[in-house]
Amino acid sequence: MTGPSAEPSAPFVHTLPLTLTGRGEPLYASLALAAAPLDWLDANSEKFLHPDEAALVTDRLHARRRHGLLVGRYAAKRALAMLHPAIDPRALAIRPGVLEQPVLSGAGVRNLGVSLSHAGPVAVAVVFPEGCPMGIDLERVRADAVPLLLSQSPEAERRLAACLDGPEPERLMRLWCLKEALSKTLRCGLTVPLELLAVGSVEPHPTGLWAGFANFAQYRGLSLVAGDLAAALVLPQTVTLAPADWAAWQAALAEAAREWRE
Ligand SMILES: CC(C)(COP(=O)(O)OP(=O)(O)OC[C@H]1O[C@@H](n2cnc3c(N)ncnc32)[C@H](O)[C@@H]1OP(=O)(O)O)[C@@H](O)C(=O)NCCC(=O)NCCS
Repeated sequence: MTGPSAEPSAPFVHTLPLTLTGRGEPLYASLALAAAPLDWLDANSEKFLHPDEAALVTDRLHARRRHGLLVGRYAAKRALAMLHPAIDPRALAIRPGVLEQPVLSGAGVRNLGVSLSHAGPVAVAVVFPEGCPMGIDLERVRADAVPLLLSQSPEAERRLAACLDGPEPERLMRLWCLKEALSKTLRCGLTVPLELLAVGSVEPHPTGLWAGFANFAQYRGLSLVAGDLAAALVLPQTVTLAPADWAAWQAALAEAAREWRE
C-alpha cells in the first residue's frame, strides 16, 4: 500500500487487496484509487500505457476526456500491479469493448476483468476474476445535482434516501453511484430504464453502507463517502468478502477529495 507523495505534481495512489470466497474457492481482486495532474500523466504515460491505449489518447480529445482516460488507466494498472507485480504495465491493454466497457488483455493475465471510473483528476479501478463480476463508480457530491438525482430516482428509492444519514446531496449520490456501479457490472451502462437499477435496501457497514438492489438480488454494493467524493463497488451477493482495511481506503478517499480537485 502506498500513501501520498511529498511532491505535489506526483500521483497519489492507494491500493487495497480484496480476498473473496466463492464456490468454496478463494478469489483475488484489487482496488486502486489514484489521482494525478494531466501534465504528469502526459509526461509519464509511456511508462504505463500499452501502445493500443496510447493510440486512444489523441490530441483531438478534449483535455477533460484525455485526463479521464489517462488517470483511469493509471488507476487500473496500479490495481493490476497488486495482482501481477511482475508484469510490465505496458504489456497490458485496456481497450473499449463494443459496449464501451473496458476489456483487459495481455500475456500473463487470464480471465481477469476490470472496471474503472474517473472524476476529474481522481480515478478508481477494480480488477477482478471474470467469474466474479464487479463494477465501480466514483462521483463528486454536488448540491446542484440534487434536482436531477431526485428526478431520476423512483419513489421507493427517494424514501430510502430520506432514511440515510448525511446531507441530501450525499445521500442521493450514494444511491446514484451504486446504480452506476451495478450498470457497469451488468455492462449495460445507463442505457436501461433507471428503475431497473434501483437500490432496494441498505444496511450499515463500519465505514459506509451495504446496499441490495430491487431487481438484481444477485448483487450487492458497498458505498463509501469521504469529503465530497462518493464511491461504490458492486460484487456478487454469493461471494464472501474477507475483512479489508476499508478505514484506510476511506481516509485515502478523504485525502483525494481534499487535495485533488479539478
Ligand atoms: C458506463 C457509464 C455509466 C459511465 O458513466 P460516467 O459517469 O460517464 O463515467 P465513469 O467515469 O463513471 O466511467 C467511465 C468508464 O466506464 C466504463 N464503461 C463504459 N461503458 C461501459 C459499459 N457498457 N459497461 C461497463 N463499463 C463501461 C469505461 O471504462 C469508462 O472509462 P473509459 O472510457 O475511460 O475507459 C456511461 O458512460 C453509460 O451509461 N454508458 C452507456 C453506454 C453508452 O451510452 N455509450 C455511448 C456509446 S453510443
